[in-house]
Amino acid sequence: MGDLVLAIETSCDETAAAVVEGRAIRSNVVASQAQLHSVYGGVVPEVAARHHLTTVNAVVDRALDDAGVGLDQVDRIAVTRRPGLIGALLVGVATAKALAYAAGKPLVMVDHLHGHVAACWLEPVALDPPFVALTASGGHTRLDLVDDYAAPQLLGQTIDDAAGEAIDKGARLLGIPYPGGPGLEALAREGDATAFEFPVGLRSRGPGGLDFSYAGVKTALLYATRELGENGVAERRADLAASYQQAIVRPLVDRLMRAADDSGVPAVSIGGGVAANGLLRAQVEGAAAERGLRVAIPDRALCTDNAAMIAAAAAFTLSIPWPDFVGEDAMATAPPGGIAA
Ligand SMILES: Nc1ncnc2c1ncn2[C@@H]1O[C@H](COP(=O)(O)OP(=O)(O)OP(=O)(O)O)[C@@H](O)[C@H]1O
Ligand SMILES: [Mg+2]
Repeated sequence: MGDLVLAIETSCDETAAAVVEGRAIRSNVVASQAQLHSVYGGVVPEVAARHHLTTVNAVVDRALDDAGVGLDQVDRIAVTRRPGLIGALLVGVATAKALAYAAGKPLVMVDHLHGHVAACWLEPVALDPPFVALTASGGHTRLDLVDDYAAPQLLGQTIDDAAGEAIDKGARLLGIPYPGGPGLEALAREGDATAFEFPVGLRSRGPGGLDFSYAGVKTALLYATRELGENGVAERRADLAASYQQAIVRPLVDRLMRAADDSGVPAVSIGGGVAANGLLRAQVEGAAAERGLRVAIPDRALCTDNAAMIAAAAAFTLSIPWPDFVGEDAMATAPPGGIAA
């Protein structure tokens, strides 16, 4: 039997727990609060933290049940410690510490973004380094060179908004409820992506020209909707969505391919919630095939927030032996650059 890890993830609005054995997912439970927050148009931190508190024990029990293992059989307990909403993170960290303490198990403190990168280590994708990883999520957009899963190296990142943030804000302008990603994608399917020309941010900036910028495209959509007026927007919603989605996806694909070319790696991966987007998945696949690159695209459920990816990152993170972890804490932010704990 391989390393059996129970992982907990509560950094934003998903209460998640998973059991992973080596590279194999034995269970992966996600209780989403998205509906709870949609009336507010976004995640309300205090509401998220309180809801994690009422849900987390049941989610952990369910993950153990689904995997058919007891807490005593688990080798290590892993938890997301940063970055995210501090109240939300604290619920996961306190739960994991309590379980590890009671069961006499080591604890692994994991960085959420390390999890998004490590998701493609899991079966059936099971990607081995070296590769370039694109992580595009609600709060982050970055490229890392992964020579070793233990220490991804930052190549470029957004200088303003994250891709997911731009998607959610754009969706809101088009009257799509939170979370905007899936709704924008569905609407875009009925529209023409060449109907509107939105700016593709930062053609080449940052060391190696691998940084991203999404503030401009968001403003361009705002101006376009103002110019069209209410009726115009209602008429052209699908075209606006398709053109906007394409303007967000294009730099992700371009820079990922450029980073792969520059670093000479044989493979690329995508991860984070935006990697659930069908257009991004298809365009990355197409561009990688043209170059003869292997492309690792995890299942959609492993792109959006989940705890299986936290267990994956835990495989490359030092365990803190019982009971030395009692002083460990959650952190709202990660240190600049690094994503491995
Ligand atoms: N099908 C989709 N198309 C485009 N975007 C999507 C899709 N599904 C989800 N998203 C976007 O993914 C983002 C959420 O990703 P994720 O859950 O990884 O973010 P987060 O955990 O809140 O942020 P971070 O990982 O940066 O801490 C949201 O912005 C959402 O709109
Ligand atoms: Mg995330």
